[in-house]
Amino acid sequence: EKGGYPHFMLKEIFEQPRTLRDCIRGRVSADGKHVVLSGVLDNKERFLDAHRILIVACGTSWHAALIGKHLFEDMCRIPVEVEYASEFRYRNPVVSDKDVLIAMSQSGETADTLAALELAKEQGAFVFGICNVIGSSIPRATDSGCYIHVGPEIGVASTKAFTGQVTVLAMMALMLGRMKGTIADEAFERVTRDLHRLPELLQEVLELDTRVKDLSKIFTYAKNFLYLGRGYNYPAALEGALKLKEISYIHAEGCPAAEMKHGTIALIDDDMPTVVIAPRDKIYDKTVSNIQQIKARNGRIIALVTRGDEVAAKIADYVIEIPEVCECLSPILTSVPLQLLAYYVAVNKGRNVDQPRNLAKSVTVE
Ligand code: F6R
Repeated sequence: EKGGYPHFMLKEIFEQPRTLRDCIRGRVSADGKHVVLSGVLDNKERFLDAHRILIVACGTSWHAALIGKHLFEDMCRIPVEVEYASEFRYRNPVVSDKDVLIAMSQSGETADTLAALELAKEQGAFVFGICNVIGSSIPRATDSGCYIHVGPEIGVASTKAFTGQVTVLAMMALMLGRMKGTIADEAFERVTRDLHRLPELLQEVLELDTRVKDLSKIFTYAKNFLYLGRGYNYPAALEGALKLKEISYIHAEGCPAAEMKHGTIALIDDDMPTVVIAPRDKIYDKTVSNIQQIKARNGRIIALVTRGDEVAAKIADYVIEIPEVCECLSPILTSVPLQLLAYYVAVNKGRNVDQPRNLAKSVTVE
């Protein structure tokens, strides 16, 4: 049932071109002109009237939600707040019938996320689910929703669900942006065409497998790792760090690249590898300065760059090249080599990749 792969996690990483094809099937047109999610279309008014979108989630789903904030604010000009479900539900949060609350959960069973959505529903919010497991508790408790359709995820470390969640958020943001008139046609079509190309782009990213496997050997014995990114790729840095922590048991920290100089930079020495996500985007030059700051302190750098990069690539010690894609979809591509890196480091250390210690696939305890 692992389809010839040694672990479910690796199988699920490699499935991503297909799972994203399933995720966008019937929802995105090849010519870049249309994006339709029926759960959004059927509730158009609730979304158009919303003064705010709240997204509640835990773990990896929370990282995907952070990318959602960028997408909705960029394309729809709606303020978005992303909350840990466990913090939201035990506060006395301000919620009204002008809010749309999105509960993001692969399993659809996370107790805190379910409780957070019930709380928002009681206070009149329109509640929308983005889940993977069909018929699970969260989709049953929401007013409407949208499945990510990536198929069963068995490895405890979430991989294909994350890329599916970001893809659904991108489709929602495009659709709402168009309804609200807050996205230009040209931008809409450019992103939609790239969404449609995601399966082939991911296939190219997966060709990095051997490269990442080789790199993993250099870093297997590191005690700490730092992951840096900015903008759309700050959440991808958090996600890369979480993947490494949970399956290899190496301590890792994700940090906004610029925030590093406010404290975390003190940790840098030649023992601690830093993974910097530095695609050619609006803030590329600033990320390059951060790479220089690490280099000046003898840090060892693995940089994820856009194919053909010559600036960041020259300063970094090791480079992983990602195909060109529009900025808002780049975390879908950059997260995949980081999944592979975590996987191979964990395998090198002989860890139980599919069932890491102390972790469960769905967290129904509070
Ligand atoms: C990390 C991981 C967890 C889950 C979290 C939320 O790889 O799997 O952090 O993302 O427990 O689970 P769901 O998405 O099922 O609500």
